[in-house]
Amino acid sequence: MILVLDPKAPQELLDAVQRTVEPLGWRCEISRGADQTVIGLSGDGDPALLESALAAHEGVDVIPILSRQEYQRLRVRRRMMTGLAAGLGLLTAMGGAVPVVGFLLPPKGMLGEGNLVKVGTTPEMQQRASKPLLLFGRSMLLIRDERGRFHATSAICTHMNVCHLEWNERRNLLECPCHGGAFDVHGNVVRGPASIPLPTYPVEQLGEDLYLRRES
Ligand code: FES
Repeated sequence: MILVLDPKAPQELLDAVQRTVEPLGWRCEISRGADQTVIGLSGDGDPALLESALAAHEGVDVIPILSRQEYQRLRVRRRMMTGLAAGLGLLTAMGGAVPVVGFLLPPKGMLGEGNLVKVGTTPEMQQRASKPLLLFGRSMLLIRDERGRFHATSAICTHMNVCHLEWNERRNLLECPCHGGAFDVHGNVVRGPASIPLPTYPVEQLGEDLYLRRES
């Protein structure tokens, strides 16, 4: 089981969760990341009791880790629900004037020649070494490495497929706040416990603009 909370979840909430789960036979490992706070639970408590006990705490997302495939399916379902909710909110705000299909398509300004999607510019990436992207339904990171080359990778650690990686510019590594796994810019595992390489996406540069190619 893992619990996913807001990255700025107050310490009191974390303490309250800990006080709730420990008497039920679970140990907590808390990791704070830039995008989320994750509490990994280990132990032999009853998952049903755990879920009902945690229902009292708002803002705590309980995610059972059954198998990688099952978890992947759960994530896709949750992502679709979140996207749909956001889209419907937008449509409501616009008085329903936009056809639903408009929400399902990418913004016009993002489409370039030959199915290229603009994701940033070189001046922008001189100011920052990494940029989070949400593209093609995936969380990604656009990265400038120590030699000034650009890379795009999945932003989600392959160990448990839930934790967001953080770019460590000094070490030139993507590091996972959950259990310390690390990947290089080519997606290779540099440090476990992750063992599966990270998906990467070629970045194309036209003048000062940086693009990713839409997959066919
Ligand atoms: S989730 Fe365990 S190393 Fe990333």
